[in-house]
Amino acid sequence: KSIAELGDLRGKRVLVRSDLNVPLEADAEGSPAITDDGRIRASVPTITALAEAGARVIVCAHLGRPKGAPEEKYSLAPVAARLGELLGRDVAFATDTVGDSARATVAAAQDGDVVLLENLRFNAGETAKSADARAEFAGRLAGLAEAFVSDGFGVVHREQASVFDVARLLPSAVGGLVETEVGVLRRLTTDPERPYAVVLGGAKVSDKLAVIDNLIRTADRLLIGGGMVFTFLKAQGHEVGTSLLEQDQVEAVAGYLELAKERGVEIVLPVDVVAATAFSADAEHEVVGVDAIPADRMGLDIGPRSSELFAEKLRDCRTVFWNGPMGAFEMAPYAAGTKALAAALVDITSGGGLTVVGGGDSAAAVRQLGFTDDQFGHISTGGGASLEYLEGKDLPGLTVLDES
Ligand code: 3PG
Repeated sequence: KSIAELGDLRGKRVLVRSDLNVPLEADAEGSPAITDDGRIRASVPTITALAEAGARVIVCAHLGRPKGAPEEKYSLAPVAARLGELLGRDVAFATDTVGDSARATVAAAQDGDVVLLENLRFNAGETAKSADARAEFAGRLAGLAEAFVSDGFGVVHREQASVFDVARLLPSAVGGLVETEVGVLRRLTTDPERPYAVVLGGAKVSDKLAVIDNLIRTADRLLIGGGMVFTFLKAQGHEVGTSLLEQDQVEAVAGYLELAKERGVEIVLPVDVVAATAFSADAEHEVVGVDAIPADRMGLDIGPRSSELFAEKLRDCRTVFWNGPMGAFEMAPYAAGTKALAAALVDITSGGGLTVVGGGDSAAAVRQLGFTDDQFGHISTGGGASLEYLEGKDLPGLTVLDES
């Protein structure tokens, strides 16, 4: 169901699950400051549409991974302020999620007003594994509203109270952000224009094995960078010094390299890396070939010859999905690989190809490195969610909407 199918929303209390899980860092005064507001921006159109339809909009979201009880550093208060600026209207912030403050704030809301509830994960019922343990919290959340809109694409892979259970308790609809995200990812899984390349980076290969398994069936080329690449290099027989290595995954990765060869899927690995003496911007570092990583150094970025190779392998691609930075881009000496990759994607976008950047880290990386969202076909708000979609898994937050 789309929002329009919920009928006339004037005066109705509508609960919206958004993904407002943004990175925060302490500013000069020690107050939490949002370092990338992409997810808040992406949530604005649905909230605005509901407010303009006259609904009393109750936004709920999580921040970080608190353990089921309030923790100041995970408060959504700074997010409420930023959301208000982006919406151009006041956002009433409830200092709890389903308690006295939430009920009073919702009761005071007029048609077209926007309320943000405090972090859902301050309540153990939000993330509890069993449906029974989530039921009470889900019931109290649903009790605040008359309809539910699921718009947090980044959390649709979570079977949690605000994503899954509330959709069974209220008339529910899919929000515009989730519709857009699913539409784009469907283009990747259903007959993508070829050649279709996937670039994977980030720290851990163990998080990505399932998607690699699936990509070996769908993509034409798989380019690997980031910390996870050292497990691949090891599987090919290289020594990787003190680089990040998941020794227990080497065998699985070797199996995937073999399978890719059988299927005719090209796996492209770096030929050089930036090797440093420590995980620090000030550490001594040099570019070395992948067969000459010194025993006391760690690879923190792909090297310049690898950046050229990756750009070359992407040049003729009509579809590219990218998840995970190529190196420790937040430190200037190790940002070049990620920057070069982003530039290669920008060229593909301008040539009319479809480029999709998935995952909070990659999205934050491209913005921090000076790129703008409109230089890519789509910047997904979902990290784990977009990977699980590409794995072909059923995502609870989507299947529950199909049922409802
Ligand atoms: C994300 O950051 O990918 C989403 O907000 C989901 O957060 P989670 O991984 O803590 O569930």
